[in-house]
Amino acid sequence: MTEIVPNIYWVGGVDWSLRNFHGYQTEEGSSYNAYLIIDEKITLIDTVKDHLFEEMMERITEIVDPSKIDYIISAHSEMDHSGAIPKLLAVAKNAKLIASPNGVKGLKKHFHNITDIEECHEGMVLNTGKYNLKFYLQQMIHWPDNMAVYLEEEKILFSNDAFGQHIASGFRWDDEYPHSMLFHQLAKYYANIVLPYGAKVENFIKRAIEPNEIKYICPAHGIMFRKYIDDLLSEYTKWMTNTLDPKKAVIVYDSMWKSTENMASQLERGLDNVGVRVEIRSLSYCHISNVMTDILDASLIIIGTPTLNNDYMPTVSSFLTYMKGLKPEGRVGFAFGSHGWSGEGVKNVDKVLRTLKDWEFPLDAKQVNYVPTESDLKSMYECGQTLGRYILEK
Ligand code: FEO
Repeated sequence: MTEIVPNIYWVGGVDWSLRNFHGYQTEEGSSYNAYLIIDEKITLIDTVKDHLFEEMMERITEIVDPSKIDYIISAHSEMDHSGAIPKLLAVAKNAKLIASPNGVKGLKKHFHNITDIEECHEGMVLNTGKYNLKFYLQQMIHWPDNMAVYLEEEKILFSNDAFGQHIASGFRWDDEYPHSMLFHQLAKYYANIVLPYGAKVENFIKRAIEPNEIKYICPAHGIMFRKYIDDLLSEYTKWMTNTLDPKKAVIVYDSMWKSTENMASQLERGLDNVGVRVEIRSLSYCHISNVMTDILDASLIIIGTPTLNNDYMPTVSSFLTYMKGLKPEGRVGFAFGSHGWSGEGVKNVDKVLRTLKDWEFPLDAKQVNYVPTESDLKSMYECGQTLGRYILEK
């Protein structure tokens, strides 16, 4: 366990070997952060995945007899946080389970034998003795039921999925963990989990953070914040307002016989020539969740594909489905690639990109037949220059 302040503890579980979180590549593992508050009434905020129940119980037992827990606050019914609730209720037999209105519905749908759950609402305060816990609903960050809990006396915000990062570590605090790695995983989490809900995040920050003094932000995953809260909020503000880097482009592609790859290289040279920084990501090697991290603040998104079986490559299909669901807005887009005979791949990528909100297309999609000629490659270089100048001058 880790003491946050006297009487308040991190008692979660660390998922060291987790490498896939519903399709998100978690190269650093993750943690499920449960928090124990010792007061006249003993309270646990969230639990852990079912398989880490024993680990959480060992941590709780170092502090208090778990059967003495009075309140279990389920801030989110997704099973990475709620999975151990049934086993915990079997031990903490007198505990009252508390959740948001949507949390009550969600928990009942997950755990069909749990029926006695108390609803809490926005702004409601739970008094545990000397502490007051105030609830803030966080609808769609990132399920309909999420909520945050603010402990007024110690100025701790238990922020649930907001401000989380998938990191497994024995270090629990932002000033103990490598800063750039922490903020990279924070960005990856935002890009892959929170991105569609920028307006909800903004609203949450206005309600729960701006009016309150915050000394600690304790999310439901990864590292807790006590030193770099300003940096954390500044990064979230950038992302939730869709503030993009005007000099950043991402080229995402797959290739069968290197024609599309060679076109990608020339696009990159053209962009580089006018001063745009480019990340090139081959979908044969790069995981889509890492590509989304690149895309988070990029102004220009370029997608390349050959045509395979009258459509784009399956890797490109997977990426497009994923990106479309995460709804990046307001980008400049461009589709390109090589084809043999029918050429639907590039056309279909272009169609998908044009469904995204507030995207611009200064150039029509471009494709070549089989292997690009010197003239084709020169044309791609020039496309890179044109697209680059476009985003720099926007
Ligand atoms: Fe960490 Fe939405 O669960």
